[in-house]
Amino acid sequence: MCPGKGPDNERRYSKMAKIIFNRELDTGIYHIKIAGKYKGAMGQFYMLRGWESHHPVLGRPLSIFDLESESISFIYKVVGEGTHLISRLKESDDIELFGPYGKGFPPPKGRVALIGGGMGIAPLYLAGRELFFDSEIEVVHIYLGFKERAILTDLFEKVSHKLVIVTGGFISQKININDYNYVFACGSEEMMKAVVQQGNYGKTQVFVSLEKRMGCGVGACLSCTCQTAKGNQLTCKDGPVFPGEDIFFE
Ligand SMILES: Cc1cc2nc3c(=O)[nH]c(=O)nc-3n(C[C@H](O)[C@H](O)[C@H](O)COP(=O)(O)OP(=O)(O)OC[C@H]3O[C@@H](n4cnc5c(N)ncnc54)[C@H](O)[C@@H]3O)c2cc1C
Ligand code: FES
Repeated sequence: MCPGKGPDNERRYSKMAKIIFNRELDTGIYHIKIAGKYKGAMGQFYMLRGWESHHPVLGRPLSIFDLESESISFIYKVVGEGTHLISRLKESDDIELFGPYGKGFPPPKGRVALIGGGMGIAPLYLAGRELFFDSEIEVVHIYLGFKERAILTDLFEKVSHKLVIVTGGFISQKININDYNYVFACGSEEMMKAVVQQGNYGKTQVFVSLEKRMGCGVGACLSCTCQTAKGNQLTCKDGPVFPGEDIFFE
């Protein structure tokens, strides 16, 4: 394990590790579990690099799906070269991880809703698992939207007091954010915008997790800049989780 420091001087690790499994859950969607002890909190991410060639140079950001004492796991969709190379890895193959990176979801209280669309469901399982057993939390309701088929609903069911699934529709239409003290959303910009722009009568704090295209993951290349009410911010370092009201959605 090689300790390293990001620009904010926080100690992070790059680590070569063994894959426990890398299963296809649905066409082009994988669940990868990797052996070892890892740090991380809900909403943070790791950069994964699963190839020996020089190209692609940089790892690919994936949200922590789950953390256990001897493993970490991620779910990902194959969209290009990096995720395709990761999808070809098998049990016992090596993979390199860097992280954890970013600022995750803040600790909430009271009634909490987690809302995810597509691969935006990825950071919400760890959030559900942490919050479901937290005495400060009254209820955790999870809302998940899928284009065609739902995945991993049995896992989400175990960490929620209510699970709402939509396939082929708009999950943002199933939630009234005013029923909650905190709402954490991750998915398409359209979905997060629709959630943030619901009439919020004051007591609800909405946080969104952005998935901007990234390069370095540590605040050096500026490729993940996003416009916010507080000026330009870096998704990798200042986020990926931001207060919804601060984001200028396109
Ligand atoms: C903080 C963060 C967490 C993420 N967590 C997950 C996760 O848990 N699971 C998951 O499946 N994906 C996640 N993503 C998206 C994932 O990182 C990208 O899909 C991946 O980097 C694509 O790499 P690639 O080499 O396969 O594709 P590339 O060859 O780099 O790109 C293929 C196509 O996908 C587009 N693309 C690449 N990255 C993104 C992006 N971030 N947003 C929108 N379009 C993109 C490109 O423009 C291109 O059209 C996350 C992204 C961020 C920033
Ligand atoms: S990815 Fe390089 S600055 Fe954010």
